[in-house]
Amino acid sequence: MLKILVCVSGGGTNLQAVIDAIKQGLITNAEIVRVISNNRNAYALKRATDAGIDAVCISPKDYADREQFHAQFLNAVNEKNPDLIVLAGFMVVLPQEMIQRYRNRIINIHPSLIPSFCGKGFYGLIVHEKVLERGVKVTGATVHFVDEGTDTGPIILQKAVMIEDDDTPEILQKRVMEQAEWKILPQAINLIANEKIHVDGNIVKRTE
Ligand code: GAR
Repeated sequence: MLKILVCVSGGGTNLQAVIDAIKQGLITNAEIVRVISNNRNAYALKRATDAGIDAVCISPKDYADREQFHAQFLNAVNEKNPDLIVLAGFMVVLPQEMIQRYRNRIINIHPSLIPSFCGKGFYGLIVHEKVLERGVKVTGATVHFVDEGTDTGPIILQKAVMIEDDDTPEILQKRVMEQAEWKILPQAINLIANEKIHVDGNIVKRTE
């Protein structure tokens, strides 16, 4: 049974998609052992407790500096000895030590087709604003492993979503979530839980 730890900062709809997929048997051989938020008011924390999952808040506001925050955050992660860490709308840059320790065991959902509209400064609604400003006709979402860069790790799954004429950033964000994120995040977790993929350099391959 794959032990999953989910990190969140906001609404937690991706977390909910994972909780539901486990309940429905769309993800097998996996359980969520803890949800960590950096934001005390994150609705995602309520979603976790409602589902009977251990939920903790580690807020940088409660610590004197970044180093202390990172130490407490890492403690809360390591305590559960997770097999997989899922960043589901987690707006905190991870400590380097964590990336090294959990190499190819941390995945992130990003609301665009990487390598477009990603990297520093591209998160949440801003991604969809930039997509509409540029006038692209297709966007989507990406699940990838996390490495030292911002959105640069090996890509696991992507799904395209069409832009429509009257899209606003909010409308587009919702469509990308519904059509892409809530589908490919559970799918990627299920592939990992059932050992269907492996990383070869910067490329994710299907395991025979
Ligand atoms: C999602 O759209 C996710 O892709 C995005 O934040 C949102 C969180 O929503 N993540 C990033 O932008 C990471 N760079 P949620 O809390 O409802 O899952």
